[in-house]
This record gives sequence, structure tokens and C-alpha cells, in this order.
Amino acid sequence: MNDLIIQNIKQLILPKSTERPLKGADLDELNIVENGTVVVKDGKVVYSGPYTNDFEAKETIDATGKVVSPALVDAHTHLVHGGSREHEMSLKRQGVSYLEILEQGGGILSTVKATCQTSEDDLFKKAEHDLLTMMHHGVLAVESKSGYGLDKENELKQLKVSRRLQDKYNLDMRHTFLGPHAVPKDASSNEAFLEDMIALLPEVKAYADFADIFCETGVFTIEESKRYMEAAKKEGFKVKIHADEIDPLGGLGLAIDQQAISADHLVASSDTDKAKLSDSDTVAVLLPGTTFYLGKNDYADARGMIENNGAIAIATDFNPGSCVTNNLQMVMAIAALKLKLSPNEIWNAVTVNAAKAIDVDAGTINKGDKANIVIWHAPNHEYIPYHYGINHVEKVIKDGKVIINHDIALA
Ligand code: NIG
Ligand code: FE
Repeated sequence: MNDLIIQNIKQLILPKSTERPLKGADLDELNIVENGTVVVKDGKVVYSGPYTNDFEAKETIDATGKVVSPALVDAHTHLVHGGSREHEMSLKRQGVSYLEILEQGGGILSTVKATCQTSEDDLFKKAEHDLLTMMHHGVLAVESKSGYGLDKENELKQLKVSRRLQDKYNLDMRHTFLGPHAVPKDASSNEAFLEDMIALLPEVKAYADFADIFCETGVFTIEESKRYMEAAKKEGFKVKIHADEIDPLGGLGLAIDQQAISADHLVASSDTDKAKLSDSDTVAVLLPGTTFYLGKNDYADARGMIENNGAIAIATDFNPGSCVTNNLQMVMAIAALKLKLSPNEIWNAVTVNAAKAIDVDAGTINKGDKANIVIWHAPNHEYIPYHYGINHVEKVIKDGKVIINHDIALA
């Protein structure tokens, strides 16, 4: 006997199961079944497709008028951090830039201070609340970075919190060591600090899947980023990079040369680097919520990357400074308006391609897949990026069980 049937689904969104990330024009292809059925047994999808009543199950959910999709994947977050930085909003209003705030010892460095001063258990409680908020917004696979410790004890503290969250909620999580995220004010030089972070790689390997670096003016150069990526790969890490977020240093080209699993931000990437995407499976993880929150007018050239046959994904970049939202649906709206992505491209970018960017088995609900499913209170898939800033999730189903059930009725 099957466990669950989701029946009469108005639109069933079925991204394609694929070994490699979807690239170029393939990103606009999405299997959308009008009037669909999903059948689940033992936590797995046994059928997803056009309406059928050939199956029996212990429980049926009627999804008349609703959209059903795979649970979303957030491929870039700074989930575990101490404190908050609401006071930076007034600095930004006065015209102080993100890098100027960092230069003055604020920004990332103030979150480093707060994170170092917070105990592992308190960090856990705060990150747990933020993770549950993500789940309530339809996300069941998450990448989580360190980078607010900048020393062994505190980087490991963040990574341990991330792992404890994975253990507690049994989520598809990936953990990223981002030791080279900023240079502490008391470091003797950027190079010396980078060497300290490289020296941590063997020990950090037990806690982290990926190694990441912030390649930016005043932080780490292209040469330093290359040195770090090569050292990390020798230790068995897959590598990622915060690249070309503000200045066009060439981080995207470096990521492609280094066969990074992803290159993230890419707001200022050069045309030459974007052209290189065509021969690469490095996923361009675009974070338009950050551009929005930093008040910039120029967004990453998503259309150009797709024209160059690139693979793109979209993520929140959830962090306390440059993008303070853990609502991936909001970022889907910004991607529609500012990156000019089509609804199909957006759905592929937050499901199957986001899963490729963090190497998790997630983002699809075809036969045999884990039954990680969202039922949306929305009439069609275009509606979710359109009606922005609110939560359209009605139910979240994890491994075949309803774990979140939103009821609009008042208590
Ligand atoms: O991806 N740019 C570097 N790191 C984060 C921001 C971190 C922060 O401001 O606390 C980012 O935008
Ligand atoms: Fe980031």
C-alpha cells in the first residue's frame, strides 16, 4: 500500500533529472503537468505525472487549484552567525558603501566579533530559527558557510552548529569553510592571514564539504584566491568563490579554470569570463537579493550568461549584512524583475541547478526521488515570483510526511 497521494494538482512542476546542470536554452525547459498526481511510498516518489486514479494510498491530499513542486534548494547562505547589523542601514542611507563599512572594521568584521562572542549553543538556537524559517518558505536543502570566526576555534564552532542542525533535522545540507572571508584588523598581512586559513584546511575537512573565499578589492586578490583554491583541492575539497561581487577582478574566469563547483555573485564579471561558461559545468550562483539590498542598479548579467550557454542557479545569500532575508521566494521575484529570468528558468534555478551547485540529491520529484515536496497556495508557477514578498507555501512534505502545514485561519 502507498502512503500518500497528492491528487488533482492544478500544476505539477517537474524539473528534469540530470547528471549535469542545465545550461543555456535548456534552463527554459520545464515539465509542467496540468492536472497531475503524485504518489509516495516509503518516503520516495513512486509516480509523478498526469492525473491517474490507478493508485491507492493510506492518505490523500486534494491539491485542487494548487501548484506542487520539489522542495526548493538554497545554494548559498551564511546561516550560522551571531548578532545583527540593523545599524548599518542608516550608514547606507548616508551613502557609505559596503566595502567602506568593512574597511572601517564594521560589516563582516562586526559579525565576526558577535559570532566569536556567542556560545555554540546560542549560535545553534539562532541558526535553528533561521533554518526553520527557510523550511517554512519551502526550502529543504541548504548550503551553510562559516566565515565569521576567522580563527580555528570559531570557524569550527560555526561548522559544528551547521552539522548539528543537519543531524537534528536530517536535511540535505552542505557545509562550507569560508575562513578567508575577511582579513582581521590585527593580521600582519592579507597573505599571512590567508596562509593561516590554508593551514586549517586539513582539520576543517572533517566538518566541511566545500572551501570558499571572498575574492574582492581589499579582501583577497585573484592570485591569493588561486593559491587557496589549489591548496583546498589538494585537501579534497570542492571549491567555491565569492567572485566579482563589486569589482571585476576576474573571479569567474578563475573559478572556471579551477573547475569550481560554483562561482557566486558575478555582478561585475567580464564578457570574456562569461563566454567561458559555455565550456564549463561550474554553476553561476546568482544572488540578486544582495544587489537589491546593497541598493545597486546593476544586476548580474543572467541573460548574457544563459546566451553563453552557462549554467545558472539562484540563492538567497542569507547573511546579516548584504542580504538579510531567508525567503527564497522573494529572491525568485527579484530574479524575475531584475535578472529578467523566465518563470521556467527561475524554477530550474532554485531546484535542480541549485542542487548541482551544492552537490545534493535534491530539486527533482521524478520517480524514485525523495518525496521532498511543496504544495503552494498559488494557481500557477508564474504566480509565485509575481506576488512577491510573502510566503505562498501551504504544505511542506519531507520524506513523504507533511512537516509544515500553513493555515491562514485565525487562532
Ligand atoms: O556574500 N561578500 C561577502 N560575503 C557575504 C556578505 C557577508 C556580510 O556582509 O556579512 C556576501 O554578500
Ligand atoms: Fe555570500
